[in-house]
Amino acid sequence: MASEKGDWIFVKENEKNYNIEHFVIPEHYEGDVSNVLIPHGLILDRIEKLARQILSQYTDRLVVCCVLKGGHQFFADLVGFLKKYTTKEGKHLPIALDFIRVKSYENDTSSGSVHISMSEKELKALKGRDVLIVEDIIDTGRTMVALLDHLKKYELKSIKVASLFVKRTHLSNGFTPEYVGFSVPDVFIVGYCLDYNDYFRDLDHVCSISPAGQKKYFSVD
Ligand code: HPA
Ligand code: MG
Repeated sequence: MASEKGDWIFVKENEKNYNIEHFVIPEHYEGDVSNVLIPHGLILDRIEKLARQILSQYTDRLVVCCVLKGGHQFFADLVGFLKKYTTKEGKHLPIALDFIRVKSYENDTSSGSVHISMSEKELKALKGRDVLIVEDIIDTGRTMVALLDHLKKYELKSIKVASLFVKRTHLSNGFTPEYVGFSVPDVFIVGYCLDYNDYFRDLDHVCSISPAGQKKYFSVD
């Protein structure tokens, strides 16, 4: 069952609560981001809660599948919390890790085509398994729907999606993940592994990009 929107943290439009001056921003990105939308500590606190919800809903070995590259940081922290609760707090649930590369973005718009890289052999190994796909952000929903569609024929026992962010955009195809961290406004966000042409993945806070940053890292190819 899809999660209830009321359970997600709602990040408001034009959220200006967090002045950039109040946080440490790597020097190489100074001037390139305009404000902090979600501080790193809040992201981690939210992921800990998602980890507990996820664990309460599985009983068999779970395959946690990271959608690269954007999902990497969420995946790493989520798996960290899953391990914390499966090793120290007595819930016994073996976790397998898997990785998939899906690419659909150039500059700040979806390129329309989706490339999925996972070998036939790796996909067949998912048969009969409970799989949790871990994604950074659901925007139009097109990438995720294409991925789920692709996985359908491999007869998984179950497939669910955890996305740290869901964007409130009129371009959404209505896809709703089972686990969601934050509902975010329709602005291009970077940080915590979300990128703009592969920049800003190494920024811990989730920020909106400044016009200067957009210009500086714009890609023509
Ligand atoms: N930022 C980074 N990557 C994205 C976004 C975004 O706002 N939306 C979809 N992919
Ligand atoms: Mg992504």
